[in-house]
Amino acid sequence: HKHLLDLMDLSREEIQLILDTAESMKEIFTRSIKKVPTLRGKTIISLFYEPSTRTKSSFDLAGKRLSADMMSLSVSTSSVVKGESLVDTAKTMEAMGADAVIMRHSMPGAPHLLAESIDASVLNAGDGAHAHPTQALLDMYSIREERGKIAGETIAIVGDIKHSRVARSNIWALNKLGAKVRVVGPPTLIPANLEEMDVEVYYDLEEGLEGIDVVNILRIQLERQEAGYLPNLREYTKFYGVDEKILELVGDEVTVMHPGPTNRGVEITPEVAYGDQSVINEQVTNGVAIRMALLYLLTGGEKIEETAN
Ligand code: CP
Repeated sequence: HKHLLDLMDLSREEIQLILDTAESMKEIFTRSIKKVPTLRGKTIISLFYEPSTRTKSSFDLAGKRLSADMMSLSVSTSSVVKGESLVDTAKTMEAMGADAVIMRHSMPGAPHLLAESIDASVLNAGDGAHAHPTQALLDMYSIREERGKIAGETIAIVGDIKHSRVARSNIWALNKLGAKVRVVGPPTLIPANLEEMDVEVYYDLEEGLEGIDVVNILRIQLERQEAGYLPNLREYTKFYGVDEKILELVGDEVTVMHPGPTNRGVEITPEVAYGDQSVINEQVTNGVAIRMALLYLLTGGEKIEETAN
């Protein structure tokens, strides 16, 4: 593969290769010498049309730890403001020698458009409510690391499924890797076409969390709600917020995940987010390893074994 646009393009074996490669990458950057020359001479450019803390900074660090030249275009102070198109902006970046472009955009399919227009590798860092493949890969990595396996585990994804690219990419990857998937939330935040995907739908939080292994709690995407349909957040928290009381009912063996950023105290309490069962910070660390693996696999660096010392 040259691009990473959607996990639907990947086989189970390819997903597993990415997870295995990320394991080696995590060993590199968690030891004292954090940097290897594997991507020396490669130029990687980030184009983020939507805000990001985790995805953008972890891609930056991932590239730097592999010695690539990393550059990010600050979209809000760029010629995009003067009306330059997405494709023209990317072609300009390519003319400066980009080997890969990492892009986040509010329009579903924007990275696909870019992949058709430029020769560089395109990595989708989130396109509207469509897909967030690198997030789902780091979530798969985190589940495998914490639980020892993914196949046979029961994962409940709770919250705003309808507007969530994280939910879509997670459901796809979990099904592919043999997990059992549930979604839990109010009917207004669960899309109608879910029957096409292999998931069980629950509208009651306690029922949906009974007997699970992992709960992945999602943020309400306030920025993507249709006009006039914004959920009442206090009511949402009452019925679907995950707090210590709910977690006690679910059991102390259940792993708590959240892609971040959280709406603090809305879908998750700080006590749960920073509690013993949470792997939220580990997810962030694993995000660097996954993005190192992807940059390495897609931009074809030298072999890690040859350059690690
Ligand atoms: N999870 C995630 O994509 O976070 P950011 O929006 O901070 O990148």
